[in-house]
Amino acid sequence: MNKESKLYIAGHRGMVGSALYRQLLAKGYRNLLVRSRQELDLTDQRAVHEFLREEKPDYVFMAAARVGGIYANNTFRADFIYENLIIEANIIHGAWKAGVNRLLFLGSSCIYPRDCPQPIKEEYLLTGPLEQTNEPYAISKIAGIKLCESYNRQYGSSYVSVMPTNLYGQNDTYDPLDSHVVPALIQKTHEARLRGDKTLVVWGTGKPRREFLYVDDLARACILLMEKMVPDGVFNVGAGSDVTIQELAETIMEVVGFQGTVSFDVSKPDGTPRKLLDVSKMKELGWEATIGLPEGIEMAYQDFLAKACN
Ligand SMILES: NC(=O)c1ccc[n+]([C@@H]2O[C@H](COP(=O)([O-])OP(=O)(O)OC[C@H]3O[C@@H](n4cnc5c(N)ncnc54)[C@H](OP(=O)(O)O)[C@@H]3O)[C@@H](O)[C@H]2O)c1
Repeated sequence: MNKESKLYIAGHRGMVGSALYRQLLAKGYRNLLVRSRQELDLTDQRAVHEFLREEKPDYVFMAAARVGGIYANNTFRADFIYENLIIEANIIHGAWKAGVNRLLFLGSSCIYPRDCPQPIKEEYLLTGPLEQTNEPYAISKIAGIKLCESYNRQYGSSYVSVMPTNLYGQNDTYDPLDSHVVPALIQKTHEARLRGDKTLVVWGTGKPRREFLYVDDLARACILLMEKMVPDGVFNVGAGSDVTIQELAETIMEVVGFQGTVSFDVSKPDGTPRKLLDVSKMKELGWEATIGLPEGIEMAYQDFLAKACN
């Protein structure tokens, strides 16, 4: 990948896509190709294939997808599987037809079996049943990995798949029905502070351990994989360490300036006790996370405040 290469970022207005866009620009890549959803609906096969045939990008970053938290995944199960499958099929097949040799597909750590050994290695894919609440989304992401793998095997392309852990950061989604744990807790804690609440109630026991990665660290990993032209395959991208939900809530309370205490609603489910990715493959390539949780939450909160005030 050189500075003149034509790079298409699908989903450049999303959290990951916008981080890729910012970082590629900062690194001096000038030939960035983007389209909003209004300009190009990625579920429209004819439009996507025509766009790729006409524009002929050299590299494709696939950061467009239907994304959401547990509630959205569990409620809009058909939309999650249909939209993700069709977006992946349209872009990957269209890219291959347009002669794109290098593409990066973004999956998710939920592709791994619900109860697999920790930390989770890439090779655990398809070794056990998935978590039920987001199974349709996970199946669509597994299909994306298999699309990349199959085009590589049959046609000799070099399409690589990245499995990020839970992400948060600039341009996150704060819609309460659609958000993940970090934005949901930031919003809830902020509102609790404004109301002057004495207690912040968090779902579950607070004991499950989860891993959180600031989105700029993920973008750096994706760009490195594209620049280095490493052999294709699946790459986990995570923080390398995890925290309990209680520790996450306390970090957010500190950053937001909430003075009360935290309590846990144990009538609500905890989910799997631990979910941590093994990131040895990325470490071997020289990448590791650099933004710690307190620093990342501070940046995410400033972004939340800037948006909330607009
Ligand atoms: N967020 C996480 O914690 C997380 C964790 C692991 C993996 N990932 C993966 O990372 C990728 C990016 O996620 P994200 O958090 O950046 O999601 P996001 O903020 O919701 O961004 C998704 C982007 O895709 C675009 N998009 C969706 N459907 C489209 C369509 N039919 N036509 C055109 N554009 C469409 C959206 O456009 P609009 O702006 O118009 O809606 C948005 O810009 C996804 O593949 C996701 O699975 C995310």
